[in-house]
Amino acid sequence: MLPNPFLDPTLVHGDLYRTGDRLAERTRALRDAKVAGRDATAVITDLLAQRTSPDAMVLDIGCGRGTTTLRIAARLRPRRLVAVDASVALLDIVRTRLAEAGGNGSVVAADFHRLPMPDAVADAAVAAFCLYHSTTPAAVIAEIARCLRPGGSAVLATKSLDSYAELDQLPQLAGIDRDATRRPSLYESFHSANLLDIAGTHLTVLDVLHEDHVFEFADVAHLARYLATTPKYRLDPDCLPDNLAAILRQRLPAPPYLARSTVSYALAERP
Ligand SMILES: C[S@@+](CC[C@H](N)C(=O)[O-])C[C@H]1O[C@@H](n2cnc3c(N)ncnc32)[C@H](O)[C@@H]1O
Repeated sequence: MLPNPFLDPTLVHGDLYRTGDRLAERTRALRDAKVAGRDATAVITDLLAQRTSPDAMVLDIGCGRGTTTLRIAARLRPRRLVAVDASVALLDIVRTRLAEAGGNGSVVAADFHRLPMPDAVADAAVAAFCLYHSTTPAAVIAEIARCLRPGGSAVLATKSLDSYAELDQLPQLAGIDRDATRRPSLYESFHSANLLDIAGTHLTVLDVLHEDHVFEFADVAHLARYLATTPKYRLDPDCLPDNLAAILRQRLPAPPYLARSTVSYALAERP
């Protein structure tokens, strides 16, 4: 079995999130290609809003660049909002974005397997698109449950195992990553099909939502932005970054290139 970069601690705590650039560029490439599927931060915040009052203390675990954090700050205006991530560089971005948006929130650098918070401190917690970086996501769910008060809410979000798999054949076809279709899914440890079971280890799951997202890459330059920032691929270094679009244009069938992903959300509570 080929290795999974999303489960390689050296990469996850190194190159992948050493700055916010790669995450921002990949997120932008996907957002610009999306032709169906709701904005995930809006869905997460709507789910949270069903069960969270303005005097709540809310944790955003694995907050990344803080896109969900900002949305929670603006929409729910919680009494306390703490964004947690292992990447200090990303937390700097979150702090700046929160300050620019006038949102009240703070950041904490921590590993989500050992949250530096007392028991039962939080009314609600979000863990969006991050638990697939753990080989033991149930252990992170246990930590989240420990930090929630009894009856406190959690919103967990992830993607399906087959997300964007249609695109794997393209670098292979172009001869710039011959193993692309043999690599494991980036989401193999925590995905749409095991979300319910893993969340249910330490939380009571109230609802699970699955939503189909569809992506259309209308030109090779756009596809190149996605391929170059997706850690699944080991693209031939000779073609990066400037030559990639030209190589794809020569070697691939004409666009558009289509892909799909199921985005899944669980709403749960601490028993
Ligand atoms: C795809 S980003 C998450 C994006 C963000 N939650 C959002 O919805 O916009 C995954 C994040 O998980 C963080 N992460 C990975 N392993 C972690 C760990 N062991 N502890 C804390 N954060 C971790 C990474 O640093 C990264 O910021």
